[in-house]
Amino acid sequence: MKILVTGGCGYIGSHTCVELLEGGYEIVVVDNFSNSKPEVIDKIKEITKKDFKFYEGNVCDKTLMNKIFDEENIDAVIHFAGYKAVGESVKYPLMYYRNNIDSTLTLCEVMNSHNVKKLVFSSSATVYGKPKVLPIKEDFPLSTTNPYGSTKLMIEGILKDIYISDNSWSIAILRYFNPIGAHESGLIGENPNDIPNNLMPYIMKVATGKLECLSVFGNDYDTKDGTGVRDYIHVVDLSKGHLKAIEKIKDTTGIDYYNLGTGKGYSVLEIVDNFSKVNNVKINYKIAPRRPGDIDACYADPSYAKEQLGWTAEKGIEEMCRDSYRFVMKNK
Ligand code: UD1
Repeated sequence: MKILVTGGCGYIGSHTCVELLEGGYEIVVVDNFSNSKPEVIDKIKEITKKDFKFYEGNVCDKTLMNKIFDEENIDAVIHFAGYKAVGESVKYPLMYYRNNIDSTLTLCEVMNSHNVKKLVFSSSATVYGKPKVLPIKEDFPLSTTNPYGSTKLMIEGILKDIYISDNSWSIAILRYFNPIGAHESGLIGENPNDIPNNLMPYIMKVATGKLECLSVFGNDYDTKDGTGVRDYIHVVDLSKGHLKAIEKIKDTTGIDYYNLGTGKGYSVLEIVDNFSKVNNVKINYKIAPRRPGDIDACYADPSYAKEQLGWTAEKGIEEMCRDSYRFVMKNK
């Protein structure tokens, strides 16, 4: 089976490419390196000892997408490509709507005209907005708090309409919780160039001395220690969920939604504590005001993915912290 992976050089995309290749799939990758580096391609090949075809460019480029589908015998697509920084999306909403929506429309048009109707889409737990009850189930009400989240929710709506209009499509929408960690080889991982917004990349900058101190955004939340609670999931576990989704949509039609999380919530201070202990490195932190838009707690009920896809996250918090650190130390 030949899978087109859009955004295959990004953080989750690259780990999924590794799992696909190791799982015996043929892959074709398209990426424009807007938030990734060309060397990731060699790293994927080094880990898997397998080769694959790569196209450089934007998924919004219809000529390129037509060329890929004309040249390759694509059976299914995993669509990762998209902008993903919440703060940036608030500043540049048009850029986010244009890129994330346009790329998906272009991709689906080209898939349709080439009669390829199997799609796995990278969505996010951000589509649950501020959940009233925990853990979060797939049928909870949906809303968003920023343009990035709105693009995810809009795309979910677009894909639903495509399926309603043509029942021969088979679509799996994966709602990710908070991916952290890295491949155990230390060759691929998450390495933002700028000052990171997300917790684990920020902790890693402090651990490697690039930033002095972590600001813990709020310690007066209604949680075990007052700091925000999230469902952190190892990126390799998350990637494996994509293979299960491909297996599911391979021989069926329909559209369905799956939470990919562990079901466990950890507070910011628990993450700092685990990271320090596992890696034997001190993380300086200070309590800072709440970050606007943040919620107290967010964690998944992952039972539907277990029941329908036969998927569960297996790696614990120690492994997530160890693998994150190994990657940054190897790629300083
Ligand atoms: C954010 C996005 C979400 C996106 C996800 C990607 C918002 C509202 N949500 O989720 O849409 O899919 O990233 O992984 O932005 N924290 C600190 N100090 C820091 C950074 C974070 O204390 O320097 C805290 C936050 O307050 C939060 C927790 O760490 O309690 C996790 O934050 P983060 O990694 O940014 O993820 P989310 O906010 O959950």
